[in-house]
Amino acid sequence: MKRIAVLTSGGDAPGMNAAVRAVVRKAISEGMEVCGINRGYAGMVEGDIFPLDAKGVSNILSRGGTFLQSARYPEFAKLEGQLKGIEQLKKHGIEGVVVIGGDGSYHGAMRLTEHGFPAIGLPGTIDNDIVGTDYTIGFDTAVSTATEALDKIRDTSFSHGRTFVVEVMGRNAGDIALWSGIAAGADQIIIPEEDYDINEVVAKVKDGYATKGKNHHLIVLAEGVMHGDAFAAKMKEAGDDSDLRVTNLGHILRGGAPTPRDRVLASWMGAHAVELLKAGKGGLAVGLQNEELVEHPILGSAEEGALFSLTEAGKIVVNNPHKARLDFAALNRDLAH
Ligand code: ADP
Ligand code: F6P
Repeated sequence: MKRIAVLTSGGDAPGMNAAVRAVVRKAISEGMEVCGINRGYAGMVEGDIFPLDAKGVSNILSRGGTFLQSARYPEFAKLEGQLKGIEQLKKHGIEGVVVIGGDGSYHGAMRLTEHGFPAIGLPGTIDNDIVGTDYTIGFDTAVSTATEALDKIRDTSFSHGRTFVVEVMGRNAGDIALWSGIAAGADQIIIPEEDYDINEVVAKVKDGYATKGKNHHLIVLAEGVMHGDAFAAKMKEAGDDSDLRVTNLGHILRGGAPTPRDRVLASWMGAHAVELLKAGKGGLAVGLQNEELVEHPILGSAEEGALFSLTEAGKIVVNNPHKARLDFAALNRDLAH
């Protein structure tokens, strides 16, 4: 393989730049040429493709966001969009692609591979909810940012003797809430993977003030449950009489300099993706499992370890869905007294 390309797709995540840099530098080390594709599959279809050399990725390792920019481009899920993208790849002499993104982006990589352009997926999202990996690029940074914010909220929460509901991102997953909640010593963590009873939530708040000598109370709420304002309204309906405030950390968690761990993970995975392409492999997603890099077929049978399978009716099913660590939810209950 002489020339490859790299793109970032879906929601951005800190460490995506580090992954792009690793792809470019490793490819050059292997004697390949590299192109960057701006704005994910949208840029591919529009031909927004440009050569990248070693210097072109200088000074991006430590920067948040993605300098290639990202886009959500549903048109790529259709054959017409894919064929337009392939036309552009051919025009630029590109033979393989590294796609940094989430599950949706992996499907695009699979389609490219099926059309004869091997593509490798790398897991990039702050949510940590991608199949086939224990950790995603950006998760560690998001947890670190959330923890720092929670520590700050605890300061003001204590000073004023208030209850806080702090909403953190996680469209379907409670990982950010669990990790940052434990790290910041949250009194309660509410995640979509676990049922909760609003009366119990309120009872715990009351008990904290009335019998445990607490003067404040910190609740970390994953976005996937509901928004913080709605949750606070439910608490009031259930009889909460504390001085309650809501903060939504929102997109702040998507930005900022990646942590060393995210930089290392991104560098490692980026270089590995190039090795796979060099070996002529495609249709694979790289993951980290038990602290080692692994790769799984994106589409295929569950028996061969594929992340997704197609039913006879053509529906995509996830073979081994990501699961948040419910033992961590239990851990926090044991520690939050
Ligand atoms: P993420 O990659 O974070 O899951 P999305 O689900 O928005 O984010 O997917 C990112 C992009 O991947 C989409 O905007 C689209 O361009 C492409 N994509 C998503 N699903 C498919 C699919 N089934 N086939 C081909 N491309 C897809
Ligand atoms: O998937 C990552 C994520 O940050 C989710 O936690 C959040 O729900 C979503 O993206 C927000 O997407 P957007 O930036 O398109 O509003």
